[in-house]
Amino acid sequence: MEVVAVVDAEPPRFLVALSSVHWRESWKYGERAYRYCQHDAGHALGSLRYAAAALGWSMQLISELSDADLSTIMGLNRVQDFHDAEPEFPNLLGLVVARPNPSRTLCVSSEAVRIVGDGSWHGQANRLSSEQVHWPWIGAMEANAVKPHTELQFRPSTGRVPQGQVPIPPPKVVGPSAVSIIRQRRSAVAMDGQTSVSLDTFMGILRRTMPEPDTVPWDAFPFPARIWLCLFVHRVDDLPPGIYALMRDPTRLEALRTDCRDDFSWTPISGTALPVYELRLGDFRQVAAHVSCTQAIAGDGAFSLGMIADFARTLKEEGAWAYRRLFWEAGLVGQVLYLEAEAAGVQATGIGCYFDDLLHLGLGLDPEEDAWQSLYHFTVGGAVHDARLTTLPAYFHLPSRRAGHRSVDGSDHPER
Ligand SMILES: Cc1cc2nc3c(=O)[nH]c(=O)nc-3n(C[C@H](O)[C@H](O)[C@H](O)COP(=O)(O)O)c2cc1C
Repeated sequence: MEVVAVVDAEPPRFLVALSSVHWRESWKYGERAYRYCQHDAGHALGSLRYAAAALGWSMQLISELSDADLSTIMGLNRVQDFHDAEPEFPNLLGLVVARPNPSRTLCVSSEAVRIVGDGSWHGQANRLSSEQVHWPWIGAMEANAVKPHTELQFRPSTGRVPQGQVPIPPPKVVGPSAVSIIRQRRSAVAMDGQTSVSLDTFMGILRRTMPEPDTVPWDAFPFPARIWLCLFVHRVDDLPPGIYALMRDPTRLEALRTDCRDDFSWTPISGTALPVYELRLGDFRQVAAHVSCTQAIAGDGAFSLGMIADFARTLKEEGAWAYRRLFWEAGLVGQVLYLEAEAAGVQATGIGCYFDDLLHLGLGLDPEEDAWQSLYHFTVGGAVHDARLTTLPAYFHLPSRRAGHRSVDGSDHPER
């Protein structure tokens, strides 16, 4: 991540850019690394938006720029300065404004891009590894999912709640601060297979994943919602275990219903205005673990889920590059789940290793078609404490910290 410019303006504002060196993940994850980098961009966007919100600031993506323009703005196209380093690819450019009103206040003209590109650049990229493993599919994606210049995607604040949805309640005045929740967030390495969550907690977590344009972090993400959640409910009080669907874009209910197996009931859940539907009741703990590469965490949480994209339609309407923005959307949903789980006193884990075709088959979706495509799994529940992990305060290693300087939240000890 880089902060690419500080603009002297009132209110103060600056640009933040995200880029990926795919090798940083592919050395470990192989082919999966390309999509993990896109997931990470979505998670990072969420982190930035929440951090800005915690300071009372707003944030917008400047989503119309092409990758070529982003490369120029970030200085990634300086061939001489990257000569033997692993290539770095642009992802996102965000505008952070030090005021809460999310109205867009900046467009980047092609003249501005040229001026930045012609500026004085300093520094050279260092090579990370002496040898590399070549993953042909990653190279193919790098070549085929390049973003062109696109129409301005900006959903201005409406100041109203979308039709059919209940207003999100105001933030709790009691409970841990956003800062402590953000700092304590960790992925659960294992789930205890026992902890349940209340129906209110479950619905509250789901509600925060709804793409309401006036809520954090969705006000920073200008693309239409194209992911629905296939929920495996294992332990939610007052909700029978089974498979449920959260339609983040309720207008796609009939299209999905037509494509899924015909013995799903599609019963709306009473007592909530959220578009949540019961599909089939039963104990799906083993199934959930199985479709998540047999990882027990997906069956041992209170619930787990697959994020399934309206895939072919999005690529047809937005172009091949939209493959990436679908993963950003999934990563952003994931970041909401991570933080909402912590706020609810449980924990979550992103699951990037899953068997997509098996999940498609189970839902009756044709694995040979690409109408619907699973992009990310997640689990939420009671974590098994992992004594191997230690959390230290940020910058603990700096001499000023060791001399006893306290952190923002007043603690000068490891948090747990
Ligand atoms: C895109 C993505 C995919 C992940 N996939 C898995 C997974 O398949 N299984 C798992 O146990 N953890 C998975 N994780 C969790 C990571 O292992 C974890 O985020 C990482 O170890 C850093 O720990 P932290 O989240 O506590 O900071 C994934 C995380 C991300 C962001």
